[in-house]
Amino acid sequence: MPAVKAAYVCQVCGQTAPKWQGRCHACGSWNSFTPVAASVSQASAVISSSKLLRALKEPQSTPVIRSLAECVGMAEPRWPTGLVEFDRVLGGGVVPGSVILLGGEPGIGKSTLLLQAGERLARQGRTVLYVAGEESAAQVASRAERVGATAERFYLLNRNALTDVFAAVGHLHPDLVLVDSLQTVFDPEVDAPPGSLAQVRQVAVDFVTLAKEAGSAAGSKNGGGSSGPAVLLVGHVTKSGLLAGPKVVEHIVDVVLSFEGEKRSALRLLRATKNRFGSTQEVGIFQMGERGLDPVADPSQTFLGERPKGAPGSVVLAAMEGHRPVMVEVQALVTPAPFGGTPRRLVTGVDPARAGMVLAVLEKRAGLNLATMEVYVNVAGGMLIDEPAADLAIALAVVSGFRSVPVPADMAVAGEIGLTGEVRSINLPERRLAEAARAGFRRLLLPAGNVRRLPLRADIEVEAVGRLEEALGWVER
Ligand code: TYD
Ligand code: MG
Repeated sequence: MPAVKAAYVCQVCGQTAPKWQGRCHACGSWNSFTPVAASVSQASAVISSSKLLRALKEPQSTPVIRSLAECVGMAEPRWPTGLVEFDRVLGGGVVPGSVILLGGEPGIGKSTLLLQAGERLARQGRTVLYVAGEESAAQVASRAERVGATAERFYLLNRNALTDVFAAVGHLHPDLVLVDSLQTVFDPEVDAPPGSLAQVRQVAVDFVTLAKEAGSAAGSKNGGGSSGPAVLLVGHVTKSGLLAGPKVVEHIVDVVLSFEGEKRSALRLLRATKNRFGSTQEVGIFQMGERGLDPVADPSQTFLGERPKGAPGSVVLAAMEGHRPVMVEVQALVTPAPFGGTPRRLVTGVDPARAGMVLAVLEKRAGLNLATMEVYVNVAGGMLIDEPAADLAIALAVVSGFRSVPVPADMAVAGEIGLTGEVRSINLPERRLAEAARAGFRRLLLPAGNVRRLPLRADIEVEAVGRLEEALGWVER
């Protein structure tokens, strides 16, 4: 069967289509389709496979072959930057010769993070090249001054053409190349504007080639042996949250990081959505300050810093951010709706659909009359919690607010609520318990299903709840 030839390609996500389309059904972008030149011809595929066959028959040089057992335990060398939250997400530091893509919305702090990470490595004696394709040297310099990035081996190149970048790399032999941004650098051999899918893809491939193969040619002197420089690419994210050309770039690079946060709050979260050298469960927590990004070493303390103890409508949730436990405050305000108006439901920080379900279960199973009440739910400190374990905290905060009865100040909770009002088991209860104890709580409400297997601790008590009604006993007059 002849394959359908793609004649148009979405410049945002790389989706192909035989006809022009106004809206991409894969990523939702408008007017993003442009024609493509004929795809790879079959002839070239035949040639490359016959080359491969020849290599099979007459090997030119013997490549190094190791038994898998020999390789077990071979750790990747790492360069810890010392920016703890950044290193944590990478899995311990930058791997020499690796290519990292850092995505995030404009203004979130990507350039700042790049400068601070580069600065740390330059201070340790690594040579770092910052390619600024987006901002003038003066703009980069003023930010550098602000965050104190003044290390001697930190170099700036204010160019967009890849040929200039590679020439600078050949001259400087940097250990790390920072590219700000992927969308503003272009390969002059590709006949497409900077930022287009064809350019973004080619530039990414060129940098991967540089990182993986340039080492031997350039006479690398870094700790990575035969590899070229590590490359950190900044990638812009479109409004819908997609990296421009994600399909084509994400599988090419080793690590994909995403930098998130609400612009109004100073909180910034760094996550790995792909990591060939580490877990994708780690989260880096920062606060944007006057002098750049500050790692948040004790998130629980930060989030609970301004908690009004003993106030109705405030409940502490033992949450998980990936593999990391954090204590956050869930708040609810319940007030009568204006006469005749539709009562509002305003939810931030937790999934509104989840919160809506919890409210419905409270009405049905606990007999709470919320129909004429306005309900506001918020997670203090700008944190976004996306796990069902938040259900019990939402329910208790709403009922506590509704009845004006505070929960005990030294109590935290975690649990999923089912539609029949049952409290369901959650993941990683032990870590949540340990963090609750560390943060000074004396009691943790947990689903009964979790409690059976939990070891006893002297510093904190566990209260098992099987049903929502039992949990509501804590907010009764
Ligand atoms: P920036 O790193 O330029 O974001 P991006 O590269 O992702 O577009 O930083 C964006 C915002 O951070 C900018 O509005 C100013 C603010 N900022 C601070 O609050 N403190 C600082 O020390 C720095 C450098 C920036
Ligand atoms: Mg920037």
